[in-house]
Amino acid sequence: MFNTMTLTKAAGALIGALLFLMLANWAASGLFSVGHGGGHGGGHGDEEIAQAYTIPVPETAEAGGAEEEQIDFAALMASADAAAGEKEWAKCRSCHALDGKDGTGPHLNGVVNRATASVAGFGYSSAMTEHAAEFPTWDYDHLQAFLENPRGVVSGTAMSFAGIRDPQARANLIAYLESNP
Ligand code: HEC
Repeated sequence: MFNTMTLTKAAGALIGALLFLMLANWAASGLFSVGHGGGHGGGHGDEEIAQAYTIPVPETAEAGGAEEEQIDFAALMASADAAAGEKEWAKCRSCHALDGKDGTGPHLNGVVNRATASVAGFGYSSAMTEHAAEFPTWDYDHLQAFLENPRGVVSGTAMSFAGIRDPQARANLIAYLESNP
């Protein structure tokens, strides 16, 4: 039968086991800081912790976007090359035409300074018609911002196009559109 010594040993073993489980659990959940593990077999735990941490990397793409907002687009338009813009137009042609006919998107002849979402009979998304209330005209700035990031400017737009990153390429394209009244 149990005597006091046996009970004490059993209790000790039980507490030891519980303590070990708790320590293992803490180590696994990353609550141990690297400095604490050293004494009691912490070396193994330290390795696990080192691997468990992820280091957040700042988004550099956003910094680039913010920079582009400060471009002097009027100056880019002044030196824009409509012939070069015709090459950019190849990205739009699958959905847009310049002959007054609508396709997946509305026709774009005369789009520079045209009223936003104004082609009669074209089924604009509600995102675009709501956007038109706030930005009623496709002037240079509005157009170039939309072409840089369509979904960023008109959240929910039906136009599935990623955008044109190079500001000069956007200026060239707008010059080309302007030459198609
Ligand atoms: C995958 C098809 C697709 C491509 C590619 C595309 N568009 Fe569009 N575009 C659309 C659709 C659809 C709409 C209508 C959007 C809405 O209603 O939300 C639209 C709308 C527009 C509008 C607003 C027109 C208006 O009447 O208010 C402009 C400007 C425009 N696109 C320019 C371009 C240019 C420039 C390109 C090429 C760089 C291009 N799009 C590429 C489908 C496309």
